[in-house]
Amino acid sequence: MTIAIYPGSFDPVTLGHLDIIRRASKRFDKLIVCVMVNSSKHPWFTIEERKEMLAAVTKDFQNVEVDSFDGLLVDYMAQNDISVIVRGARNIEDFEAENVMARANKSIAGFAETILLFSDPRYTFLSSSFVKNVGKYGVDLQQYIPPQVIPKMQQKLRDISAAV
Ligand code: COA
Repeated sequence: MTIAIYPGSFDPVTLGHLDIIRRASKRFDKLIVCVMVNSSKHPWFTIEERKEMLAAVTKDFQNVEVDSFDGLLVDYMAQNDISVIVRGARNIEDFEAENVMARANKSIAGFAETILLFSDPRYTFLSSSFVKNVGKYGVDLQQYIPPQVIPKMQQKLRDISAAV
């Protein structure tokens, strides 16, 4: 059985991420979507909130599980018998960043193979930051995030504007 992991911040999950999840889930026996900690980011959503959103949007995928880990990706992989990392590449910048990350992961753990899926052309500009930035200005988010995530984003935007 080949288990793959799709790690990321998912703050929040977007339709671009969901496209990668959908396509990767068809290629592996099991796909674990794992909320990881990128220490250089300041997330809006807690890890639990991000996991809940991911669980809601992947509930119809029989072979997809959601988890989280605050540590090295390759340590999680070793602990869970996973050898494949799935990442999405939207553009040449992603490709370069993924190239570095794939080699770094492999240098720490030789078993870790990274597979890149090219993102759907509709989502090459999309990112979680974009959604957060334009959401603040009232842009309709339907074409960027799954329907289950919209109320969570709206609530977070209200919380943020009430706090300033
Ligand atoms: N569609 C839409 N958006 C996409 C996307 C796609 N297909 N692929 C990536 N993105 C966006 C994300 O929304 C995110 O946007 P943001 O920067 O505005 O938040 C950005 O591209 C990159 O995000 P993501 O793919 O989630 O990567 P990341 O940089 O947040 O996370 C980790 C990278 C978590 C996988 C990495 O830091 C990690 O493994 N950390 C654990 C510690 C570790 O092992 N470190 C060593 C790694 S070499």
